[in-house]
Amino acid sequence: MERGSFFRRNLLVLISITLIFIIINVINMRRPTIKIPKPQKPPAPCPSLVSEQTITPLKNTSHFLVSAYMDQRGKDFDIRIIGMFKRDSIQPLHCLFCCSGHFSPTTPATVLPHSDHFGFAFCATDVLCKIPQNCDATHVTLLTEPTPEKAYNQAWLPIRNKKEKYIFNFTVCISNLFGDYNNVLQFTQALEMYRLLGVDRVVIYNTSCGPDLDRLLQSYSDEGFVEMVPWPITEHLNPSPGWLFSEHGGDIHYYGQLTTLNECIYRSMERSRFVLLNDIDEIAMPYQHENLMSLMNMLLEQRPNTGVFLIENHIFPKNYFEPSGKFHLPQWSGVPGVNMLEHIYKEEPDRQIYHPHKMIIQPRLVEQTSVHEVIKNFGQRYKVPPEVCRLIHVRVPLRGLKQDQLTVDNRLWDFQEKLILNVDKALKKVGLL
Ligand SMILES: *[C@@H]1O[C@H](CO)[C@@H](O)[C@H](O)[C@H]1NC(C)=O
Ligand SMILES: *[C@@H]1O[C@H](CO)[C@@H](O)[C@H](O)[C@H]1NC(C)=O
Ligand SMILES: *[C@@H]1O[C@H](CO)[C@@H](O)[C@H](O)[C@H]1NC(C)=O
Repeated sequence: MERGSFFRRNLLVLISITLIFIIINVINMRRPTIKIPKPQKPPAPCPSLVSEQTITPLKNTSHFLVSAYMDQRGKDFDIRIIGMFKRDSIQPLHCLFCCSGHFSPTTPATVLPHSDHFGFAFCATDVLCKIPQNCDATHVTLLTEPTPEKAYNQAWLPIRNKKEKYIFNFTVCISNLFGDYNNVLQFTQALEMYRLLGVDRVVIYNTSCGPDLDRLLQSYSDEGFVEMVPWPITEHLNPSPGWLFSEHGGDIHYYGQLTTLNECIYRSMERSRFVLLNDIDEIAMPYQHENLMSLMNMLLEQRPNTGVFLIENHIFPKNYFEPSGKFHLPQWSGVPGVNMLEHIYKEEPDRQIYHPHKMIIQPRLVEQTSVHEVIKNFGQRYKVPPEVCRLIHVRVPLRGLKQDQLTVDNRLWDFQEKLILNVDKALKKVGLL
């Protein structure tokens, strides 16, 4: 009795399993199997390997490539590659293009190391290339021999600036961020001040920064106001934290600042009417206009053929504080960094000695730049009078003057209401308030 029911139960289970098996198979036969389409053609021979880095070692050489831009302002070239080259190892190079998936014949490259290298072994360098006829070039690379076959495993650079157009009035290019720089309050104030002055984009080359600043910049970059460009130069070179080789040593001037400034000009050339080249602790402040665009409209009306506007640097020593303390705001007490609103005493520049400027440029009128002046440009240069526009630069004192030798300048206070509101908003967003 017990054994019989055991067999019957097992038989039922067996029949059920068989039925399920048959049903599943019938369903599967009806359902078409999903086909993964196979590629029709073998992969194109180029570009096989596109560099996704901002610093790409150039094979077989000591040099580094950064980016390639369309540049047809001269007669003899179409492309400008920005790089960092070792000055004592410059050899003939050949441009190789990828034209709609095929190699071009090579064309000779013109290598132009920038004249201002301050004694360092590596310097900012432009390489000019001519695109061969009938080539719709998408990528470019450089070879040490004029033999495209050797381009195997060569990293290609995409050619940029092919069809952008002005979408920005004003771009600010900030010198490289490095070390554990964490001056959050001044950085936020400067970014928000720039926004109030009509800046559309701030480009920052980032080697490294402090933890709070990292969070802040991540947030500005998500929003699109700030464009972070990774700048991992320490992985390739021993960059100098100073500007002069004989004094500071290292492979290249100030973390490669000259290369990034030039890169930023070309990056902005087709999309921004004006570019301001400066540091984040500097604000190019119009003193007779509400914003930078109305300043530039006025200046260009007066001097239409000007490509470079030199802005005088004015230093506001951070060791002198405005006495009332009305901008010593309690909510900022836990935020690391300098509060620019508290520093209203400025040094008068000593115009007897060399006094550096920073620049507002029309990028299409500049070919090569240094930090305080351009090296090669089209059009005129103009020193903007300090009563029209000057730099507010809050930092350590330069001249070591006493407080009664300093001048009061509280132009920043004209913007204080909106500035404080916007700074607070930005800091709250990242949990720093
Ligand atoms: C690299 O250098 C070697 C030796 O000089 C040469 O044979 C080779 O063709 C070069 N490769 C490229 C890609 O230029
Ligand atoms: C650029 O400036 C002009 C004023 O000269 C203004 O009308 C325009 O909205 C600005 N464009 C952007 C993108 O800010
Ligand atoms: C800056 O670079 C450092 C080092 O690569 C990275 O850890 C950090 O997240 C970067 N910050 C931003 C905002 O991109």
